[in-house]
Amino acid sequence: MGTVIYGNELAQELKDGMKARVDELRRQGRRIPSLSVILAGENPASLSYVRGKQKACASVGIESSVIRLPADVSQEALEAEIIRLNEDPAVDGILVQLPLPAGLEESRAIGRIDPRKDVDGLHPLNVGRLYLGEEGFVPCTPRGCMELLKRMEAPLDGCRAVVVGRSHLVGSPVARLLQNANATVTICHSHTRNLREICRQADVLIVAIGQPHFIDHTYVKEGAYVIDVGISKAADGSLKGDVDFDDVLPVAKAITPVPKGVGPMTICMLLDNTLKAYEEREKHGL
Ligand code: GUN
Repeated sequence: MGTVIYGNELAQELKDGMKARVDELRRQGRRIPSLSVILAGENPASLSYVRGKQKACASVGIESSVIRLPADVSQEALEAEIIRLNEDPAVDGILVQLPLPAGLEESRAIGRIDPRKDVDGLHPLNVGRLYLGEEGFVPCTPRGCMELLKRMEAPLDGCRAVVVGRSHLVGSPVARLLQNANATVTICHSHTRNLREICRQADVLIVAIGQPHFIDHTYVKEGAYVIDVGISKAADGSLKGDVDFDDVLPVAKAITPVPKGVGPMTICMLLDNTLKAYEEREKHGL
């Protein structure tokens, strides 16, 4: 029977450490780290994610603001808002909540963010740094996955890792992080043949496809470390991961649940990236 690794518990431990750092800044009368989120439109899931981010900032003492824009905002007005935040010395981190409403170009918007404030790690400069193994901002969910693997004490050096999903937000960057940690990495996606056989070879299996309970025990090698990034709302309102947790738990060495798995770690890594942006900006005199 596998060990269940709870992301909410790990996130709380890390947030306790961050709160102590921010409390100390406040005690010293220093400037307080600050995150700005741009939310265009009314996507209910995005509204809920953004509320979660605001709540998490407040819980560690980081200041946050949300800039609400109408769904029919022009590309130019959206980019003007990003440029305004780039130039605001009180803002350390900028996050453009995705997906953007139809008609807006995500890559053009992300490309406008000052890479030093890109706490989502999605600007092409930070993407390039990750691929070169250089220091930069790393996307939050992939970072959260790596922290969970660390907590599982998964031996990554020389292991066989399989990532199911190749998105820019999760699959591709987490594969790169695993490779940077000396894993041998296979990325699978909707066109992959023999997916089950490939997954069954994985010592570390990361699943990020958004298909509820797609992965059952027949995809999992005995003793594998399993990270479930997926989160889908079922008809009855319950949240389901990409992994059939109850079916896979007996064969896994360790596994993350949904909810209380990767989700809380994503937000925690956003806070950590915001503190990193703050510290870098303070060090270089803003
Ligand atoms: N929407 C869903 N996940 C994310 C994320 O990590 N960053 C942004 N900006 N939008 C998202």
